[in-house]
Amino acid sequence: MKNVLIIGASGLVGSYLYRLISPECNTVGTFQNYPLDDSVYLDITSIDAVRKIIDETQPDFVFLPAALTNVDFCEENKEACFKINIEAVKNIALILKDKKAKLIYFSTDFIFNGQNGPYGEEDLPAPLGVYGQSKLEAEKAVRENLVDYLIIRTTCIYGWEPQEKNFVVNLIKKNRVGSLVEVASDQITTPTYAGSLAALSWKLAKAGKEGIYNITGSTVISRLDFAFLVAKVFSLNRDLIVGVTTEQLKRRARRPLNGGLKIAKVEKEFGIGISGAEQGLLEMKKEKHG
Ligand SMILES: NC(=O)c1ccc[n+]([C@@H]2O[C@H](COP(=O)([O-])OP(=O)(O)OC[C@H]3O[C@@H](n4cnc5c(N)ncnc54)[C@H](OP(=O)(O)O)[C@@H]3O)[C@@H](O)[C@H]2O)c1
Repeated sequence: MKNVLIIGASGLVGSYLYRLISPECNTVGTFQNYPLDDSVYLDITSIDAVRKIIDETQPDFVFLPAALTNVDFCEENKEACFKINIEAVKNIALILKDKKAKLIYFSTDFIFNGQNGPYGEEDLPAPLGVYGQSKLEAEKAVRENLVDYLIIRTTCIYGWEPQEKNFVVNLIKKNRVGSLVEVASDQITTPTYAGSLAALSWKLAKAGKEGIYNITGSTVISRLDFAFLVAKVFSLNRDLIVGVTTEQLKRRARRPLNGGLKIAKVEKEFGIGISGAEQGLLEMKKEKHG
């Protein structure tokens, strides 16, 4: 049986990975602030703690979804962001350098400026803000220090999560208590169901794939139209969803407007189609309501 270490198993992506992989492998998942199931505490900024858990678990696969993911918080807290999103990732890569483990690192379309998305794996990154910059630097650290790695770029992930912070869960929660939600009509993305992301990431890892792969849903859509799709699937009140421009939202960090990612590479190599936004939302709904 293979050994799998999921660093950040308490997060959105990590929790889907943990539920998927733990029945199949000896799996250890970590948390920092929000313990989940039988996850163990780990702060990735402690090199000794990271080394210890890797020595103890002897992983064949290390999934690394752990990161500071709040884009606006990162914009205002560059030092903390770089410490977790770059330095810690670099240290993990260095520790794994002489180990048998494959590293699966998760990155984002925020490494691009959003002038001409959706983006392919070969397109030239040009991040608009601190978060995107940190993820791009981390990708570089992974590439420079490891041979056996997967960098999985993704975007706009949705699914059930204990902290209820992703776009879809947040929208459902607010809509059901009658709150208006403003949604950007000028941000184009390719929404990604966390269940599909976890399944495909695991498939790529087991197939021995290496390098950079985009994994997102197949629908290119504005955030506003995606919100209307959420309303349709989860029977929400559409009137409580208000379209605004990104500028009107006055967020700290700039967003790539024409973002999203192309998935032709992964679809071609696996001969499969990745489901679209409506299908992903229906799968998410089914997960809870059967
Ligand atoms: N969500 C998206 O839409 C999106 C889009 C593109 C790319 N990504 C990338 O995909 C990955 C997963 O995203 P996600 O949405 O699953 O993130 P998330 O829900 O915010 O989870 C982040 C995870 O990182 C852990 N963590 C944070 N700081 C840590 C530290 N110093 N030491 C150890 N663990 C730490 C958190 O632990 P606690 O919660 O227990 O504190 C949590 O398990 C990230 O790398 C993100 O950059 C996400």
